[in-house]
Amino acid sequence: MKTSHWLTSSKLNSSNILPFLVSGRNSFDLRDETRLIFSSKRDTLFQEAYKPPYLRPFFIKSLDISIGSGNKIGNSFLGWEGSSLFQLQGSYYKPSSEWINSPGYPSYFQSLRPIFPRCLECHTTFSQSENWQSPISTNRYNKENIVFGIDCQRCHGEVIDHVKYHRENPIDSIGRNIISYSTFNQQQRIDMCALCHAGVGKNINKPAFSFTPGDALNQYLTSETTDEPDVHSNQVGLLLRSPCFINFEEMDCMTCHDPHSNEKQSMLKFNASCVECHPNPKHRTVLSENSFDCVSCHMPLESSKLMKIQINLDSISPVQVRTHRIGIYIEGELLL
Ligand code: HEC
Ligand code: HEC
Ligand code: HEC
Ligand code: HEC
Ligand code: HEC
Ligand code: HEC
Repeated sequence: MKTSHWLTSSKLNSSNILPFLVSGRNSFDLRDETRLIFSSKRDTLFQEAYKPPYLRPFFIKSLDISIGSGNKIGNSFLGWEGSSLFQLQGSYYKPSSEWINSPGYPSYFQSLRPIFPRCLECHTTFSQSENWQSPISTNRYNKENIVFGIDCQRCHGEVIDHVKYHRENPIDSIGRNIISYSTFNQQQRIDMCALCHAGVGKNINKPAFSFTPGDALNQYLTSETTDEPDVHSNQVGLLLRSPCFINFEEMDCMTCHDPHSNEKQSMLKFNASCVECHPNPKHRTVLSENSFDCVSCHMPLESSKLMKIQINLDSISPVQVRTHRIGIYIEGELLL
């Protein structure tokens, strides 16, 4: 429950809105002089939009759902209009505790952007759109049928028969009626992560949320066609281009990651996984005191081309993300 997966989306209510309201930092101005102000009334967080002389708002909208764990970048917010779901213009940028223009929004006022199922497919366990059995996207949902966060069922499939069986057969110690990764091949193991970690892609002809662990992803999505996978949200594309992956048959994401635990302070563990396969790397360069920090040199932080944050109107800065293209980097450039 401490993983970013679990925390990646939630319904907003009195118990979780307060951290977003830091006194004196609850507004920002857009280029057309619109001022967005964030405040709470009873249990609800609101975004209000004002024009000079900033006396009464011309636009008010509640923030009903938070997307993003806030562990690295921050949170975006969604709001309901009847059964239709929209993204709001204000996002919360965690590193400096302030409200910013949502990534991708213009720098002038725009009311709302519709939220299609692919967004929720990566950030919730399940969301039922009005036409959930059809591949055609809509932003209308059944509000009561959204499971927030990414929980066990997202990666292990529906568990109802599993739970029922083991309640009825408490002495059977073999997991039954559940999808197990131990029977998966490398492609199936990677595809399960690639559903959300290989870029946005395009749904082919299958409805959102119909992909089940074990399925072949290329029957479900057409992946990014670009030759240069972005460091933001395309770890799969980058890892597949790494010499470690190319030369080691069994590598997948779980070689380094445990999807069940919070890995925030895990650099020692990650570096240990490098040493397991590279016990004696040959370094001609003299390594400094950080010689055990393999990751900092061979998986350096890079600027994302897709994810940019506009903290004030005159500067847009790219988010720094660790590349999964493992390799030899000299002054930030990959040595091919
Ligand atoms: C293809 C899957 C995918 C889609 C679609 C997607 N995201 Fe994400 N999102 C991710 C991943 C993966 C991350 C983790 C950061 C990374 O990989 O760089 C992330 C990170 C974020 C974060 C930052 C969380 C943090 O604190 O680090 C926010 C906010 C966010 N997404 C909002 C959205 C919204 C809103 C939409 C839809 C309009 C959306 N995302 C669509 C996969 C996706
Ligand atoms: C992000 C995806 C993800 C989530 C969420 C997740 N798991 Fe897993 N789980 C995996 C993967 C991948 C493996 C295989 C690990 C390996 O082989 O190294 C696994 C393995 C397991 C296993 C070992 C049996 C097996 O199939 O290999 C159990 C038991 C398990 N998970 C239970 C849970 C429970 C309970 C939850 C919720 C609290 C959960 N998992 C949430 C991805 C996930
Ligand atoms: C349903 C979509 C989905 C699936 C499936 C999924 N992830 Fe994620 N993953 C995300 C999103 C979204 C985030 C960003 C969460 C946030 O910070 O809001 C994320 C974050 C992560 C992180 C960063 C954790 C952190 O603390 O910063 C790792 C590592 C990760 N995923 C690995 C995996 C692996 C390995 C698998 C396959 C077993 C997997 N994921 C499957 C959506 C998914
Ligand atoms: C599962 C085994 C495995 C793991 C884990 C692994 N590698 Fe590799 N790596 C390989 C293999 C195999 C090669 C190709 C043969 C070689 O150069 O040793 C390789 C190649 C490399 C290269 C050579 C690149 C080049 O262009 O010559 C570097 C650098 C490297 N790995 C660094 C790392 C780092 C850093 C980590 C940890 C983040 C890591 N590896 C984790 C198996 C692995
Ligand atoms: C060779 C080891 C290794 C492998 C294999 C690996 N990762 Fe990572 N991953 C790392 C390291 C190291 C970090 C950086 C952790 C940090 O900065 O705290 C990381 C970070 C991440 C993050 C967080 C990105 C961010 O915003 O900082 C995500 C998401 C992720 N990995 C997903 C994946 C997925 C999906 C796969 C499989 C395609 C995968 N990783 C395979 C070592 C690995
Ligand atoms: C200060 C940066 C730095 C650190 C820390 C570092 N490396 Fe390297 N590594 C390099 C450079 C630069 C090269 C290119 C060869 C050379 O000139 O030394 C290299 C080469 C390599 C190679 C390819 C040569 C070979 O032996 O096949 C591997 C594998 C490797 N490193 C693994 C690791 C591992 C594992 C660690 C952690 C124990 C590590 N490196 C720590 C910078 C670093």
